[in-house]
Amino acid sequence: MKYNNLIVKDLSIHLRLITINRPKQLNALNKEVISELHDALSAAEEDNNIRVVILMGSGEKAFVAGADIKEFMHFTPEQGRALSEEGKRLLFDYVENMHTPVIAAINGYALGGGLELALSAHLRIASENAKMGLPEVSLGVIPGYGGTQRLAQHIGKSRAMEMILTAKMIDASKAFIYGLVSEVVPLEKLLDQAVEMAESIMKNSPVAIGLAIEAINASYNRSGSAKESELFGKAFESEDFKEGTTAFVERRKPVFKGK
Ligand code: CAA
Repeated sequence: MKYNNLIVKDLSIHLRLITINRPKQLNALNKEVISELHDALSAAEEDNNIRVVILMGSGEKAFVAGADIKEFMHFTPEQGRALSEEGKRLLFDYVENMHTPVIAAINGYALGGGLELALSAHLRIASENAKMGLPEVSLGVIPGYGGTQRLAQHIGKSRAMEMILTAKMIDASKAFIYGLVSEVVPLEKLLDQAVEMAESIMKNSPVAIGLAIEAINASYNRSGSAKESELFGKAFESEDFKEGTTAFVERRKPVFKGK
């Protein structure tokens, strides 16, 4: 299949590399990218030969710099909520529940929806230059693709609160200490490291791996996910949201009014 925003390449008969290819926008996720990722990932899931997928961003700067701010900045609250729900259905919850393991090879910025995508993957490794964060509150919105749920499950509530409320990025070494990524390697070795991890997985039973993923996921309920989408939409009502997203586009610091 031909994609406008993805490069799909089989590295061996069992291993597929999907590269998000929108480097000028730092691989930001708009609706088209999300829909193409769904198609590419579901094709891998349904292909009996494919046993592991590696997900990367193109270029040397970003894995994914988030949801596309310019696409959603004029959305209504209803459209905001729908964006969150549809994104989860097509991509973020979809990835998490795949029986084919997905390794996020984080080759630069993984921010907002980009970190949320990495958090949905089954495994994460990062290059030394990677930077991770959920900066949404600096835009007057909240993480809307499962970040408020998954980040706390991965690194604990205290650290998740700190990352989400300060909107600060952490570097790869801190992400390793937090347990957010399992390996940190120089950028030029990142793909090789992901392939090595994939090879260890591919020695094992694909059926058992799928069942193990399902069993591990079963203990993490997502009771807060619907609430997150509702509150993500609610944020779109606020003056802060208009100010935060406009300030991003105008390359200035936002001036928020207060509660
Ligand atoms: N959406 C849309 N465009 C984006 C983008 C995003 N998330 N991130 C970067 N871009 C665009 C920039 O607007 C810029 O485009 P132009 O050249 O046309 O102006 C281009 O990518 C390059 O970016 P910068 O010039 O800003 O690069 P930089 O090196 O100065 O900064 C950065 C890099 C720190 C990652 C900065 O781009 C940045 O802060 N990006 C936004 C990060 C962010 O806030 N992500 C969260 C998005 S909200 C979200 O994800 C919601 C959700 O949970 C559903």
